[in-house]
Amino acid sequence: MNDLDPLIQEAGAAFDAAPTPAELENAKARFLGKSGQLTEAMKGLAKLDVEQKKARGALINQAKQRVEALLQARREALAAGELQAQLRAEALDVTLPGRKRGVGGLHPVSRTMERIEAIFASMGFDVADGPEIETDWYSFTALNNPENHPARSMQDTFYVDVKDAEGRWLNLRPHTSPMQVRYAQAHAQRHAAVEPMPEVRVIAPGRTYRVDSDATHSPMFHQCEGLWIGENVSFKDLKAVFSDFLRQFFETDELQVRFRPSFFPFTEPSAEIDIAFASGPLKGRWLEVAGSGQVHPNVVRNFGLDPERHIGFAFGMGPDRLAMLRYGVNDLRLFFDGDLRFLSQFK
Ligand code: DAH
Repeated sequence: MNDLDPLIQEAGAAFDAAPTPAELENAKARFLGKSGQLTEAMKGLAKLDVEQKKARGALINQAKQRVEALLQARREALAAGELQAQLRAEALDVTLPGRKRGVGGLHPVSRTMERIEAIFASMGFDVADGPEIETDWYSFTALNNPENHPARSMQDTFYVDVKDAEGRWLNLRPHTSPMQVRYAQAHAQRHAAVEPMPEVRVIAPGRTYRVDSDATHSPMFHQCEGLWIGENVSFKDLKAVFSDFLRQFFETDELQVRFRPSFFPFTEPSAEIDIAFASGPLKGRWLEVAGSGQVHPNVVRNFGLDPERHIGFAFGMGPDRLAMLRYGVNDLRLFFDGDLRFLSQFK
């Protein structure tokens, strides 16, 4: 025990009380710094004689070494503490479930469209795409729609605030039938010099628009148009092709198909196509799936072809309706709400 021991204890306590490396260095200055207590004690040696200086100097040096050892111990303790805190902060819980990347899927209507395209492609049909903003001529006039037909009215068709070259408002196409005319016209021009002209065989799926909204009608919906024109294509080919398509689409040979006389300006004769399932919840009920008919001579003329020579059939179906029947969905709006609880069932 000597008079420097309390100083050593005091330094040890000050170092232990320093919570951070920066504060530890401040505490160090109080004992070992330029005017620290041990440094001052060293300065006091000057007043002593040689023998006393030796003894006292040795004591002070010992004290200094002990203080430095305490300082070093505290430095290491603080560094280890910091490392522990950092490791704790960066800790991973390897037992947590991983974050999965969401897997999307095709929309049920897209799946239905692809299915329709694949079946008709297997029967030699081309698949064509066309504008959703149409002229009055392609949507109505070319399709033999009379000038005063209700389909042309504002209540039934959406118009765009832009006029075409004839001074008529453009429309959001109310059906895919304009694509019959666009495709057949281009085909006739492309093959003008080819004798005989290759047959026109095409389907045109896409979005269509009407002023209509309830559980079975949406202002935006889908249609798929079909057209087969040749020199010897008749109503019996329509019946064979479309019945075959429906049985493939619904994967059943038991499906009943009925052609019910109807009217469309662009076909003569015209028929609605109805189906009835042989089993399942809709068993035995007639359900309308498409309109169809022998293409009207005026429309063939608008294709740029001679109706005395080029004849055939057309049809227009609703893929949304087909998707509802195939998947057992009872409200059309579910397809367009974008609710993942509904859509993810089709992945
Ligand atoms: N365009 C008709 C509609 O939207 C459907 C239709 C009927 C298309 C007969 C045709 C057809 O090609 O021949 O209701």
